[in-house]
Amino acid sequence: MINIKVLKDYEEMSKVGAQVIREFIETTEAPVLGLATGSSPEGLYAELVRMHKEENLDFSNVQTVNLDEYVGLGGNHDQSYRYFMNHHLFDHVNINKEHTHVPNGMAEDLEQEAKDYDNLVQSLGVDVQLLGIGTNGHIGFNEPGEYLSAPTHVIALKQSTIDSNKKYFESEEAMPKTAITMGMQSIFSAKHIVLVAYGEKKAKVIAELADNRITTDNPATLLKLHPSVLVLCDQEAGKLLK
Ligand code: PGA
Repeated sequence: MINIKVLKDYEEMSKVGAQVIREFIETTEAPVLGLATGSSPEGLYAELVRMHKEENLDFSNVQTVNLDEYVGLGGNHDQSYRYFMNHHLFDHVNINKEHTHVPNGMAEDLEQEAKDYDNLVQSLGVDVQLLGIGTNGHIGFNEPGEYLSAPTHVIALKQSTIDSNKKYFESEEAMPKTAITMGMQSIFSAKHIVLVAYGEKKAKVIAELADNRITTDNPATLLKLHPSVLVLCDQEAGKLLK
């Protein structure tokens, strides 16, 4: 079931999202967080860092698994998702880095890496999975298409995703065109899911979360089948909701 909350703006969305994550951290014995990258959760991570610094939010028992990584980028590349996570969260809180997991986009055997990562996700058991959503409805890098994949897998990125993300690279050519991502089953194994979205360009895919349809053309619509999904968006992203 999807519960959609439209907040005033990006700041409110980030604060409410961080508060939800905080409650999981504080009420779960050994919390496992599923984490996402992108501009949508950046403010939420900044708020978690503030909570750690000013209010002693404790990450010492927290373990994390990230959704995805670009194939071919190592953790030192400033556009890798490992780098993003270190930069926006892990370097600023008291988390044990060995308890933070991001798929290895440099693995020699990517198929094996996908299998191992899926086993890791299942064995940890995610308490709450944070998601962004692509302008094309992707969650993680589960791109729209005829079918979706259940487990962690390697995927060719859609042109719509390349168009959205190429701004972070020197050129479109410099952006990796494949990624390794948790699949729909890996994501759905989380007990709770929190999705954050802002801006007008997300309005259409967010509105599709509120109707009765499920379609692989907007992978996020499958979230209607999950028992506990909270969507937090700003007014722009929520503007096509009835
Ligand atoms: P964004 O990316 O938060 O930068 O819009 C979201 C996504 O592609 O999942």
